[in-house]
Amino acid sequence: MPATGTMPATSFPKDKIKVLLLENIHPNATARFQSEGFQVENLKGALSEKELIEKLPSVHILGIRSKTQISDAALAAGKHLLSVGCFCIGTNQVDLEAANRRGIPVFNAPFSNTRSVAEMVIAEIIFLARQLADRSKEVHEGAWKKVASGCYEVRGKTLGIVGYGHIGHQVSILAESFGMRVLAYDIAPKLAIGNARTVAGIADLLAQSDFVTLHVPETPLTKNMIGAPQLGLMKKGAYLINASRGSVVDIPALAASLKSGHLAGAAVDVYPEEPSGNEIMFSSPLQKLPNVILTPHIGGSTEEAQANIGVEVSESLTRFMNEGATPTAVNFPRIDSPIVKGAHRILNVHRNVPGVLKDINKIVSDLNANIRGQILSTDSEIGYLIMDLDQNVSGGVKDAIEKLSTSIRTRILF
Ligand code: NAI
Repeated sequence: MPATGTMPATSFPKDKIKVLLLENIHPNATARFQSEGFQVENLKGALSEKELIEKLPSVHILGIRSKTQISDAALAAGKHLLSVGCFCIGTNQVDLEAANRRGIPVFNAPFSNTRSVAEMVIAEIIFLARQLADRSKEVHEGAWKKVASGCYEVRGKTLGIVGYGHIGHQVSILAESFGMRVLAYDIAPKLAIGNARTVAGIADLLAQSDFVTLHVPETPLTKNMIGAPQLGLMKKGAYLINASRGSVVDIPALAASLKSGHLAGAAVDVYPEEPSGNEIMFSSPLQKLPNVILTPHIGGSTEEAQANIGVEVSESLTRFMNEGATPTAVNFPRIDSPIVKGAHRILNVHRNVPGVLKDINKIVSDLNANIRGQILSTDSEIGYLIMDLDQNVSGGVKDAIEKLSTSIRTRILF
């Protein structure tokens, strides 16, 4: 017999789920949430910590872009806050550790702008080869300098891709369609796509390439990975493109190589220090050098990328609400477990201390519940458990688990 208080439970009604979207998030996100029946409120700007503390107590899902800072105090005010979506790439505007400790997964959209970056890089390869940025500037200024010398087709030239991940792959495909020979170097073993070839070391790639494009993340290993020694390994007359992270290239060394005429040009989109807003002036040793394209970190900035971000992040948040899935969370144990038909699903976030699973399984066994599936994933601070149970006792199990001193958040879905 089920014990007292073990009546079947139901999940929180969807039409009572409140989503707050800040900073003009793409309407694709609102459409996705509304298709689930969630209530959505959109605000154009960012909110201050004080405003968040006032607003968050009634919010279940918060969507932000890069301007809203989410502090521990703001998260503490979110009594019902289940998840935060960063509708952008970066997540350092959120106190991720605090969100983790409070059992709140944070999602972002790391790959929504992959294609946008790749297309810009391809454009830059051709711009550099033809010195197009300089010619355009000259004509704007009234000068007519029709030259062929030092201008090339890209067909048949070698492109070296450092970091053969999402963007590196897209660049590889597009460059081959222009008739380029593609070499790729990655720290992890990668299958070369199309006719591209992987090389064993970066030195090989630098020595063989007419164009080198960087697509690595910011890590201790990639800090200044292209400095004076690496630039020295590049062919005379080669070009460097960096649309990855500003820390990857030693900018004074690049400026020196360009001034000496060793490199014939460069395109740079990211810098070791970038202005925090459009109104702030920017200076760099690369300014005013010939055949150097400088752009303000716009590799991923397209309408399509914004639209993709709206879809990608709202989908991650919706799957978390409906299934408890966290496969792409940036601060949280990752679980993606298919829904078990006819079962109730309990989601429990707990402090990662010894004995929690034993306590939970004792509750389940004391209530004679039948576990249909159970997955636990942990990090150093918390554990995240998804448990699928027979419906008749799930309410009692949820209530008892929620009362454990180790539990941070417990939710039931059906
Ligand atoms: P990804 O994670 O798909 O690929 C990165 C690749 O670099 C991986 O294959 C990884 O194994 C490799 N890698 C890591 N350390 C390495 C090392 N020391 N040497 C060689 N390879 C190494 O990342 P994705 O999406 O391709 O992005 C690449 C970079 O582009 C990131 O730094 C990202 O921040 C940046 N990015 C820049 C944008 C812009 O607006 N300019 C927009 C989007 C991304």
